[in-house]
Amino acid sequence: MHNTVSTHNQSLFLEGVALDDIANQYGTPCYVYSKSALTQHFMAYKNALGERDHLICYAVKSNSNIAVLQTLARLGAGFDIVSEGELERVLLAGGDPSKVVFSGVAKTADEMRRALAVGIHCFNVESEAELELLNMTAGEENRIAPVSLRVNPDVDAKTHPYISTGLKENKFGVDINAAPQLYERAATMENINVVGVDCHIGSQLTDIKPFIDAMDRLLILVKQLETLGIKLQHIDIGGGLGVLYQNEDVPSVADYMAELLPQLEGRHETLIMEPGRSLTANAGLLLMQVQFIKNNGEKNFAIVDAGMNDMLRPALYQAWMDIQPIKTNTDAVEAIYDVVGPVCETGDFLAKDRSLAITAGDRLCQFSAGAYSFAMSSNYNSRPRVAEIMVDGEQTHLIRARETIADLVRGEKLLPEEN
Ligand code: LLP
Repeated sequence: MHNTVSTHNQSLFLEGVALDDIANQYGTPCYVYSKSALTQHFMAYKNALGERDHLICYAVKSNSNIAVLQTLARLGAGFDIVSEGELERVLLAGGDPSKVVFSGVAKTADEMRRALAVGIHCFNVESEAELELLNMTAGEENRIAPVSLRVNPDVDAKTHPYISTGLKENKFGVDINAAPQLYERAATMENINVVGVDCHIGSQLTDIKPFIDAMDRLLILVKQLETLGIKLQHIDIGGGLGVLYQNEDVPSVADYMAELLPQLEGRHETLIMEPGRSLTANAGLLLMQVQFIKNNGEKNFAIVDAGMNDMLRPALYQAWMDIQPIKTNTDAVEAIYDVVGPVCETGDFLAKDRSLAITAGDRLCQFSAGAYSFAMSSNYNSRPRVAEIMVDGEQTHLIRARETIADLVRGEKLLPEEN
């Protein structure tokens, strides 16, 4: 769990700040991140990679707040992006475009143009059609596009089906067996410079073996390409390790590298990784308040002010994420609750069957909420998106203001008057 969370006088702290003080100052619901945890998680990769030539490209999609990106950019991170929006965020945060890799199955010509103009590290190309569009677009812009092909190594990441991406049946990547042919084509294209290979087999992997198997297959391809006269400059293994949400047995980054790096012994290519969740998930939490306690005869409900629009993971993936009161309530009796939100959907729950000693007005926090949480939030039910706060030691910084009603309807227009 979060190693920057601690308890003092029966009250939870993130780094040096009481969560209750954060809720008093900024209101609930809000997301709260620990700068120290983010830094530690990034440094775990950096230290484990040591002297190995590498580039850690943080997967922006897991948490794209510009202060989060800035924190990582200052530590030397590169970035894995999937849209022009993410690219602009990286630039706003002071990220170095030459350390950006651009993933995604549906890049548009406009997105390609912008990425070419700022000089990204490479495009992770996912299909022949995309390669052709990129060659043409780069030609129009008088530029050479650095390219890595995302191949599909057909390994089972054994994770939730919605976040498993390395199997043949997924929409992602190019079949690894068809890849040499496409590399040969790419090598003849005037405005394409072949620089690497990449894959991404899935997210929330708690087993190292699928990564090792994927790397084995990538290396077979790399050697095959060498015999065709195609030399690569980097190998990108995709997303990072899974994290501890409940009771998963998660290997450390050091354990992972101890298995991965020997595979690359004697190889000159730069190792690129695209970790998201393992940097951000356990650096963030969602603070909320219990509005009402309700009992329908069969079940107890803790109705909170945060809903599935703020935190979609439980509804979408049946994700289990810990929820705890931020202060001990000695007057409350422990009972089993479903923690549910205000959204008009049965799927609007943050947690089910949790033992909690709470009464209305108490504040709770959901742990492991730094990744794919705010980033997946929406305005469903016309709920303004919540505030985000970064804790740094004893200090707190508002890094995204809570949306207002004006923000909610920004850009909307009434029809002209009828007569
Ligand atoms: N690279 C690519 C090309 C990806 O598609 C992803 C995640 C990553 C890197 C980062 O993977 P990570 O290190 O975070 O495992 N919303 C889901 C997760 C979706 C992951 C999508 N791709 C969730 O909340 O569990």
